[in-house]
Amino acid sequence: MLTARPPVRALTASKIREVADANLGDPNVMAFWAGESDEPTPDFIRQAGIASLAAGETFYSQNLGIPELRAALAAYLTRVRRPTRPDQVALTSAGVSALMLASQLLIEAGDRVVEVVPLWPNLQEIPKILGARVVTVPLEFSREGWRLDLERLLDALTPGTRALYLNSPNNPTGWTVTREAQRAILAHCRRHGIWIFADDAYERLYFGNDSGVAPSFLDIAGDDDRVLSANTFSKSWLMTGWRLGWLVVPASLAPDLAKLIEYNTSCAPVFVQRAGIAALEQGEPVIAHTLARLRAARHYLVKQLAGIPRVEIAPPAGAMYAFMRIAGMRDSLDFCKRLVREHRLGLAPGAAFGPEGEGYVRWCFAASEERLAEGVARLRKALA
Ligand SMILES: Cc1ncc(COP(=O)(O)O)c(C=O)c1O
Repeated sequence: MLTARPPVRALTASKIREVADANLGDPNVMAFWAGESDEPTPDFIRQAGIASLAAGETFYSQNLGIPELRAALAAYLTRVRRPTRPDQVALTSAGVSALMLASQLLIEAGDRVVEVVPLWPNLQEIPKILGARVVTVPLEFSREGWRLDLERLLDALTPGTRALYLNSPNNPTGWTVTREAQRAILAHCRRHGIWIFADDAYERLYFGNDSGVAPSFLDIAGDDDRVLSANTFSKSWLMTGWRLGWLVVPASLAPDLAKLIEYNTSCAPVFVQRAGIAALEQGEPVIAHTLARLRAARHYLVKQLAGIPRVEIAPPAGAMYAFMRIAGMRDSLDFCKRLVREHRLGLAPGAAFGPEGEGYVRWCFAASEERLAEGVARLRKALA
């Protein structure tokens, strides 16, 4: 039999896909398994993409992104985070590609990387593709919210560790790192020369303050710290299908990053980049709308779920997921497959987010209250 390299063979296939693939497109299944809104990309963003295609922008572009988009992104980051120059940013073909590129840039076979879990499966598997060893530090569940044992994380970040991959707000738990913890982590990583890969995909979907902007390592790190921030247009601007993301890196890494982009995708499509400019420059009302909708959905869903016997849930601090424990449920993959088959309800199995997620299921609440209510009714019936 012909086979792939051992680290690739050893990768875990997505258990979310395993539940979803068999049932995609079944109109009777009420699906909340995917990490995306049920609303399409706003029209003004789509029109920017359409205008670009109509103008014949169908050619290759610069590896790191068209200059107009790099400038718009630097301006956006300067507004939301810290003064940023275009030579510190790179556009990528989605957030997942940003994470792969950042890993290719700095991770070698045999490297030790540390991750806080449960965690989006892609982030757990990407370093393994490169032959790295992933060490996990589990968050702790309580009804008040998910908690990080900071000392435990710092202990895991031993000298010689290559990188910390930290996703905050976290998919699937919504846990969000505090500024105080960020400062301690940054100081520790500076001391030991450890890279911080911050996955900031949900940074604008945060419920813990009025601004809705979660704390980021970019706020406290200097330009030449070992800090990379990966991000995406997918969540804040409802653009999952466009596949556009970005990286913020120390400027000295940009030329090598450009080479990697050349040999991966060469560039993001220009019409997609034009849509990205519209999102960055005119998209604040979209984010405000999405955040308000998520706040209401979170409030509604957490209250409903907490009222179902066997369900234990903490209100998530950010992102768009309710990650709930179901008492007595031991095999979340099997449970989610049965939910689809027997109750036409699509949720993501907790085991997809690592062994620490077993016993839980994830529900994406970027949906209308009407759909959430129907989903709750189906879950209630399934657990009765
Ligand atoms: C934590 C996290 N990071 C990054 C991404 C990347 O999103 P995309 O590849 O759509 O840009 C996702 C998507 O679900 C995510 O959950």
